[in-house]
Amino acid sequence: MLHKISVIGAGNVGATLVQRLAEAELSKYVTVVDILEGIPQGKALDIAESAPVYGYDTRVIGSNTYDVIQDSDIVVVTAGIARKPGMSRDDLLATNTKIVTDVCNNIKKFAPNAMVILVSNPLDAMCHVALQVTGFPSERVFGMAGVLDSARYKSFIAEALDVSVEDIQGFVLGGHGDTMVPLPRYTTIAGIPLADLLDEASINKIVDRARNGGAEIVGYLKTGSAFYAPSASVLEMIESIVKDKKKILPCAVYLKGEYGIEGLYVGVPVKLGKKGIEQVIEIKLTDAEKAQLRHSADAVQELVTSLKTLVPA
Ligand code: APR
Repeated sequence: MLHKISVIGAGNVGATLVQRLAEAELSKYVTVVDILEGIPQGKALDIAESAPVYGYDTRVIGSNTYDVIQDSDIVVVTAGIARKPGMSRDDLLATNTKIVTDVCNNIKKFAPNAMVILVSNPLDAMCHVALQVTGFPSERVFGMAGVLDSARYKSFIAEALDVSVEDIQGFVLGGHGDTMVPLPRYTTIAGIPLADLLDEASINKIVDRARNGGAEIVGYLKTGSAFYAPSASVLEMIESIVKDKKKILPCAVYLKGEYGIEGLYVGVPVKLGKKGIEQVIEIKLTDAEKAQLRHSADAVQELVTSLKTLVPA
């Protein structure tokens, strides 16, 4: 069990994650920080008061100041604004860059040895901000996107085939956006290739729905974006780290030449263990898949280039 996991942002994703972390008992303390007066304190107290019912001994603390994150082992950044209908994740860039810069300055000050997991969007660009502002090694700064995108993809396959979600293995590559690259070729159902069980048109429909999975939820909610599946996805990553399970999960990581990409955060499969990103797994891609990944990386690069005007070097 870790000493402390902290969550910045007590909104939909942050508060749901705090609840999941408390119930999972992965650390002695879970702390949550938000700028809204009373919100992190109230939500933390509410979650703490459900402990006797669930039987967990995680201590949950909410605050408007960063001293509570002191010496955290892991800090998850969910602070920022979420999408409304008609907005792309990229529309959040300027506002969330300012917020994530402020948050990361505090992480650097209070939790200099922490692993930092980004959730705020646009995800890949926010990872760049965090890496630059904290100055932490890139093995300790990464983003949650691929686990969520893959979960959406797998849930649609399970529904189409009417099979257990547990039998589905599959993942997506690329940035967290419309350019993400689902990989039907690497998708199996209890070891059976997806293409043996589902026709091409149905697979294409699922791939498309996964790409637009976030927007589909924003369309329903109207006042915000998804948070149940995002918080569940962060929990899976944290569990792999805390228990040193070394699960292979798609995460937004800083590539140093892998997949022919240099100095850019892109979603690829990695081994996640107690040291953070322990290995980038390079899989063989067809020329078409390589081109899609390159296209996705170019979209991330475009955002990162526009960041230069927002974050002083
Ligand atoms: N410091 C701390 N918290 C902040 C700051 C800041 N500087 N600025 C904003 N926040 C808080 C808000 O007060 C709010 O409580 O971040 C929280 C965000 O919560 P929601 O608006 O409910 O958004 P949520 O759905 O949780 O999404 C958060 O994750 O998935 C991404 O695109 C999503 O960027 C968004 C982020």
